[in-house]
Amino acid sequence: MSTKDSDFYRTLTLVLAALGVFFVIIIIAAVMITSNDDTASAPTDPRIEAKTNALIAQVGEVNTDPAAAAASVTPAGGAFDDESAYNGKCASCHGSGVLGAPKVGDKAAWKDRIAAGNSSLYNNAINGKGSMPAKGGHASLSDDDVKAIVDYMVNKSK
Ligand code: HEC
Repeated sequence: MSTKDSDFYRTLTLVLAALGVFFVIIIIAAVMITSNDDTASAPTDPRIEAKTNALIAQVGEVNTDPAAAAASVTPAGGAFDDESAYNGKCASCHGSGVLGAPKVGDKAAWKDRIAAGNSSLYNNAINGKGSMPAKGGHASLSDDDVKAIVDYMVNKSK
């Protein structure tokens, strides 16, 4: 080996050693930072935790589970119950006439609408009309569900 070669290897060894030391320092610093557990000072009493969870809980939870959405209008037994679906999804407006919604049972309000025919009623209930949101704002209802509820509403209003 020439002197140039051994110089080179000495320098290389030094550089590698320096990198090694640097590496160890970084590891130690990372361990120190991540082990700084700031939950240690938080209360661990399960009652306090439960109360805190209740305080920060959302008022309404978005439920994207289609099975749960279907269950909300489909009682045990599987059959779609148009009356409870109406009460749950449509009565908020159609029970009291909110926003000018035709009240269920108000024959005069329904006369012309019924005269326009079922397909017009179904179409407006499914796609919306004026202040009436599509499917009453309940996209989880199938078209057939909406038609069944419309039939229920119409039968009560003529
Ligand atoms: C946010 C209030 C609101 C909700 C909830 C609502 N509706 Fe309506 N609905 C209206 C209003 C307002 C009208 C009158 C629209 C118009 O004639 O311009 C209407 C009209 C209708 C009509 C008559 C459409 C026509 O052809 O004139 C039907 C049928 C109907 N709604 C069905 C439903 C059904 C079924 C539901 C539940 C799935 C529902 N609505 C939920 C507000 C509502």
